Amino acid sequence: MKKKTSILFAGMMALSTLQANADEGMWTLYNLPDAVYNQMKEYGFNLPYDGLYSGDNAIMKSVINFSGYCSGVVVSPDGLVFTNHHCGFEAIRSHSTVEHDYMLNGFYAKSFEEELPNEDTFVSFMVEQKDITEELRKKGLYDLPIDKQSAFIDSVENVMSKDIKAQDSTLRLEIKPYYEGNKFYATTYRDFNDVRLVFTVPKSMGKYGGETDNWMWPRQTCDYSVFRIYADPKTNGPAAYSKDNVPYHPKHWSKVSLDGYKEGDFAMTVGYPGSTSRYLSSYGIKERRDAQNAPRAQVRGVKQDIMQRHMRADEAVRIKYDSKFAQSSNYWKNSIGMNKCIDSIGIIRQKQEFEQRIKAYQDSTGYLKGKLDFDKMKELYAKRIGTYYVYTNWAETFRNTSEFNTRAARILNGMEVKGPKDKPAKQYVVFDDNSKEWDEALDKDVMAALMKNYREHVDAKHLPAFYATVDKDFGGDYAKYVDYLYDKSILMKSGKKIFFNKKGYKNDPGVQYAMDIKDIFDQLKEQITAVSKDIEQQERYLCDAKIRMEMDLPHYSDANFTMRLSYGQVKNLNVGGKPAGYYTTAESIVEKMKTGDKFVDYYAEPIMHELMGAKDFGKYADKTTGKMQLCFLTNNDITGGNSGSPMFDGNGNLLGLAFDGNWDSLSSDIHFDRVLARCIGVDIRYMLYLMDKWGHADRLLKELGVK
Ligand code: ARG
Repeated sequence: MKKKTSILFAGMMALSTLQANADEGMWTLYNLPDAVYNQMKEYGFNLPYDGLYSGDNAIMKSVINFSGYCSGVVVSPDGLVFTNHHCGFEAIRSHSTVEHDYMLNGFYAKSFEEELPNEDTFVSFMVEQKDITEELRKKGLYDLPIDKQSAFIDSVENVMSKDIKAQDSTLRLEIKPYYEGNKFYATTYRDFNDVRLVFTVPKSMGKYGGETDNWMWPRQTCDYSVFRIYADPKTNGPAAYSKDNVPYHPKHWSKVSLDGYKEGDFAMTVGYPGSTSRYLSSYGIKERRDAQNAPRAQVRGVKQDIMQRHMRADEAVRIKYDSKFAQSSNYWKNSIGMNKCIDSIGIIRQKQEFEQRIKAYQDSTGYLKGKLDFDKMKELYAKRIGTYYVYTNWAETFRNTSEFNTRAARILNGMEVKGPKDKPAKQYVVFDDNSKEWDEALDKDVMAALMKNYREHVDAKHLPAFYATVDKDFGGDYAKYVDYLYDKSILMKSGKKIFFNKKGYKNDPGVQYAMDIKDIFDQLKEQITAVSKDIEQQERYLCDAKIRMEMDLPHYSDANFTMRLSYGQVKNLNVGGKPAGYYTTAESIVEKMKTGDKFVDYYAEPIMHELMGAKDFGKYADKTTGKMQLCFLTNNDITGGNSGSPMFDGNGNLLGLAFDGNWDSLSSDIHFDRVLARCIGVDIRYMLYLMDKWGHADRLLKELGVK
């Protein structure tokens, strides 16, 4: 690749006043531009620059990545962690049974001994971050073609990881691209794997409003759960679960604040936003809308209707599928909302106009001449979009959508092979009995319906070969074919050895099915990767050109699941002239709450009606408004992955936890709309009120310094 993609990130450093970029942005902390810090101070941030990243009490030291998909914050000297209820959801669900339903009834561990360990839950602390772009450039990274660069990065990461582990075996290092691969940063983490469930409110409150209110404002959801980090008793460092581990004692933790906020007050989130595409071209946005979001929403809609029917009919099925349903539904609704916003805000047109400006800049300066090429970009996307649409349909239909599909993928894509290493004929795999995790009737209904739906949405040439079998041997009846697979295939015989070197292996109908869907996947993948590397290169140039053109402004990189800070203010929302406030009150939830059918999204237990209808909320009520405030709005720039992010006031004290974005700006992953984009947080006083009056969790309130 071209040697001199000389990027000028001068803007990141210089400049004293921000114009266009004020408020927007997910900033890495270690190299926060002075201009951004100064703007934060103007808004009311009171900590010194080193109070963010480098100082002994730096805020970043209390912020964690929760289990690789959420954020959280350490809030006590004994390693107590706050995250969202929907982040702890799977852990809570996994401890729930029809007899002890912590999901429905909530949970409070009255002592350390009662805190519940979780096999798959971990937290990561960021230890250090640095820009290694120039080192990589010197090593020849940018001389390689773009599709060879990630292997190169992997090899550097391996070497650096070994070095770091030699210094301290509890550390781990990761290199990730920033600014569309125009920069690379190395980040060091320390992971703790013994993380125990301490407290959760009932789902009626933790997920109050359910799918109806998801991505919506106004909101009354008390979206939090409480965990504790455990450590090796000798070193206070990470250790695999052991009953002898003890609560972790961090050097720094965040302090909760009962002082609240007013409109216009400084507010900041620090957490782990997963992915944004703010530099994406207009062509890329169109592809996102038509070839990803639209088919994703369509297929999930079909699947979720069936899931819901089965879950309502049987409590045990509901427990099994609670997380699977919430997960699917979350980005089903997001996809619908994002597409609506792309159109109503006119984002593609805005991006096209911006690209005209870049083009004019390029024409007048010659910057990236012969490299960044909008006609080429248009052509490349035109080549990919149709295949991408089919691919999304394929993935939403066949990937992990039923136990059968999961097993089909596992058997082809690798699972633990047992038996003698030197005797291939004796090697086998076994599916453990995991019948606790899925339900056959639901699974089969979903599988059959999605097969039919797939055929209705793609060309015949993209149909896996088994469709011919369905027509020929099952009279086109998908349900019969699915029954046959579940009944006959070795994939569904849990506990049985599957010898894949035996002759019968490939004749098994389930193995055959797995190979058929993989054939289509391989074809789609080949067609997509043939253009993707050129698209990636064009998008990288586009990002480079934007930053160069606007070199007077600081630029943040797209989210990539590394720690970011986003600052702004507590701010109300006004949609189409209708003011929607900046906080909700106890009165609003009392009005909305229902009793009776617990499947209604606004259902809450009688005790919650009582507690939220209290006359006096004591120290948890807001001192200015006199109200019990539940959720609140800021204009902090967040996205998926930020869930559970601490929301800090100007002194670095905890106001609440971020847990959602709003419907009016669901396109903010590709374009941050300064008027409409909001972060929805749960007020710390609401969390503590329920911890106190519902949970009577005195030992935790003492630990937090509240009692
Ligand atoms: N939309 C929120 C997020 O992505 C909450 C998701 C969980 N809640 C739900 N009702 N599914 O973080």
